[in-house]
Amino acid sequence: MAVRRVALLGATGSIGRQAIEVVERNPQLELCALASGFTDLAGLAAEHRVEHVQVGGDLTRLLDAAEPDVVLNAVVGFAGVGATLWALERGVTLALANKESLVAAGQLALAAKERGGGLLLPVDSEHSALYQCLEGREPVTVDSLVLTASGGPFRGRTRAELGSVGIDDALAHPTWAMGPKITVDSATLANKGLELIEAHFLFGLPYDRIEVVVHPSSIVHGVVRLRDGAALAHLGYPDMTVPISFALTYPDRAETDVPRLELAAGLTLEFFAPDLETFPLLALARRAGERGGTFPCAFNAANEVAVAAFLEGRLPFLGIAEVVEETLAAAEGAPARDLADLVEADAAARRLAERGVPVA
Ligand SMILES: NC(=O)c1ccc[n+]([C@@H]2O[C@H](COP(=O)([O-])OP(=O)(O)OC[C@H]3O[C@@H](n4cnc5c(N)ncnc54)[C@H](OP(=O)(O)O)[C@@H]3O)[C@@H](O)[C@H]2O)c1
Repeated sequence: MAVRRVALLGATGSIGRQAIEVVERNPQLELCALASGFTDLAGLAAEHRVEHVQVGGDLTRLLDAAEPDVVLNAVVGFAGVGATLWALERGVTLALANKESLVAAGQLALAAKERGGGLLLPVDSEHSALYQCLEGREPVTVDSLVLTASGGPFRGRTRAELGSVGIDDALAHPTWAMGPKITVDSATLANKGLELIEAHFLFGLPYDRIEVVVHPSSIVHGVVRLRDGAALAHLGYPDMTVPISFALTYPDRAETDVPRLELAAGLTLEFFAPDLETFPLLALARRAGERGGTFPCAFNAANEVAVAAFLEGRLPFLGIAEVVEETLAAAEGAPARDLADLVEADAAARRLAERGVPVA
């Protein structure tokens, strides 16, 4: 089997480190490029004999030089958008963890994928699950999709109880160990909002046919309801190794050492409706998605600004949703014709969001 050359963007992060373990386990995978935001990569590059390495800067230059077979985009935030479009435009397989790029650039990304004709394999566990349940199925047979959410560390709390929660409280996720931005997004449910928009673009269903349910144990990652009344679910212990390995070794489903699911050990599966009043970012994301244009881009940009401010101690937890809501109320939302338009919409939303954040 030919060796598959992987460009790993966001190599020093939570997904990046787990991806390196997957590569080390599979001789048919080889790292050809590594990128980080500011962390030095010299040691990692030497250990894996990677020629193309970049810290910060334009990721597309690295990709041009490395000519990968697969791009694993595990960068956090809008910074990943150029790499997503680069891979889709060229038909280079894109293993996508960086959901923010698809949320912000949805229409442009779909158009680039259409032109490039390559594979877009989601690495988000819920979307990987849905992708697998949908594989080989005619769209007309699909009724609706269900995304599961753990509910985060504040599940069951009231809005009043969230007034005084701090950074450490928000970073204490009950089921997944992840980078700080996505962990805060999980605590506010903004992450599920981003995933809702991501699912809309990945699977082409309207928002009223994508449901979010809270499922605290994170065993069921996604459910596809079919028109004949059947529902297909994807189950497994919460471990990102599975969707990373699925995407990088597709369609071979290489072996992993993730424990096999034990059903007889007393597994209980509970599902609840999300509390949209306490966690308004999920409803705000749905509305931004339905409005279309660059509203999803504005949602993402405002959320990035607000989460960064929260992590710097400049904004209270409940202030995150307020900043996003105010930004969306003031954003223009006109569709982006190209990447330059999108970058401008992102920057404009960031400026609006910064107005709502107290200066340190
Ligand atoms: N972690 C999970 O389990 C999980 C699950 C599903 C989806 N995701 C998604 O995967 C993405 C990564 O999440 P994570 O948890 O791995 O985040 P993380 O631990 O914070 O890692 C982020 C990575 O992105 C790099 N980076 C930041 N800005 C960059 C830039 N401008 N250019 C190049 N690299 C840059 C960071 O480099 P530095 O080390 O230099 O900062 C780091 O390697 C996010 O979009 C997240 O929503 C994560």
